[in-house]
Amino acid sequence: MSREYKVLTVFGTRPEAIKMCPLVQELDRRPSLHSLCCVTAQHREMLDSVMAIFGRRADFDLDIMEPRQTLSTITSKCLLGMEGVLEEVQPDLVLVHGDTSTTFSGALAAFYHKVPVGHVEAGLRTWDKWSPYPEEMNRRMVGALADLHFCPTAANRDNLAREGITNGVFLTGNTVIDALRTTVRDTFTFQEAILNRLDYQNRRVILVTCHRRENYGQPMVQIMTALRRIADAFPEVELIYPVHLSPVVQETAHRYLDGHPRIHLIAPLAVDEMHNLMARCYFVMTDSGGLQEEAPALGKPVLVLRRETERPEAVRAGTVKLAGVEEEAIFSLAARLLTDLTAYADMAHAVNPYGDGHACRRIADAVEWYFGLRSQPPQPFSP
Ligand code: UD1
Ligand code: UDP
Repeated sequence: MSREYKVLTVFGTRPEAIKMCPLVQELDRRPSLHSLCCVTAQHREMLDSVMAIFGRRADFDLDIMEPRQTLSTITSKCLLGMEGVLEEVQPDLVLVHGDTSTTFSGALAAFYHKVPVGHVEAGLRTWDKWSPYPEEMNRRMVGALADLHFCPTAANRDNLAREGITNGVFLTGNTVIDALRTTVRDTFTFQEAILNRLDYQNRRVILVTCHRRENYGQPMVQIMTALRRIADAFPEVELIYPVHLSPVVQETAHRYLDGHPRIHLIAPLAVDEMHNLMARCYFVMTDSGGLQEEAPALGKPVLVLRRETERPEAVRAGTVKLAGVEEEAIFSLAARLLTDLTAYADMAHAVNPYGDGHACRRIADAVEWYFGLRSQPPQPFSP
């Protein structure tokens, strides 16, 4: 009987939870692994909502969230909180995800305790230190600290190679596609009443999200102004915007978009509601990373409300366009999708560059291989 290896998974924000819960469940099922989960709760309500859907309780909860928290506060509270957890658990491996402050401090805390680090969603890059901010540097620093790198795509693997990282690299696909496979159903009934009332066949339902720090201020004002113009110019449009709980985002969205009969600012959606809304909408406008991966898999065009993206695969496949953060460019790209059926059809085809729904199995296999519990590493994901 092989010994149980302790794997501690650490996450704290909504997108990390959506992408890590399926992996934790896969690790939980492996008899040779003792899977434990620590949440920093960098997000609170938005994290708890995801944990409830997946039905996994955290083994440790650092509960660090506070209103308008700064990057330094988040990082230092996570780092200090992780100390006690690492001393108690003495894990054989710590897994972190992506590029948030939780990701960076989780990896750094593990390094300080000389615990190996596995980085899920490794190798995404814009090569611009300031955009996305601070995520680009978080993921680069975690790449430098990590021993195992789980890359969603071949381009991500090549990015790591440019930095000289070639050992312990696995091509797995993105775990978000694993999550998506469990949530979308034709018969889904929404809890959020407005989503059941919408006429998805005869209206043009546009799903919007916007929350990135580098968009705070003028870019977000331009985005909101463009959104209002779109709703004014096209009477068939219904704009659904679940607003992130960040006070900066809440204030801006309500200041510019309140009071319009066809702009619906709603509370953040539970992840299954979000995925099923995405499956029914006409197209998506977003600065989110996760939505850029999910919407193409569901055949929905995406206009990205950013200047760059670390997810070029769906842009190359033609389902995602970079709209930027200028009002005029955003308005005209949306107007084209609403008026030109050929342009719409060119973008509205389902593509799966980010995964095949088996990323968690590959990552768990790679972890077992790392511990010498398997003779072969997993076969790489191929789109
Ligand atoms: C963080 C990540 C970002 C990720 C995003 C996902 C960093 C630096 N950024 O950004 O990469 O795209 O999460 O959503 O880690 N808040 C609540 N309730 C919640 C969640 C947040 O009130 O459930 C408030 C917090 O108090 C905070 C604000 O929202 O004041 C922003 O949260 P924070 O975690 O600092 O950054 P995000 O913009 O969410
Ligand atoms: N999401 C959600 N409810 C919402 C908005 C987003 O469940 O109201 C999901 C979305 O489907 C995706 C993830 O949250 O899986 C993306 O999170 P977010 O946009 O906050 O972060 P990012 O991906 O940009 O880091």
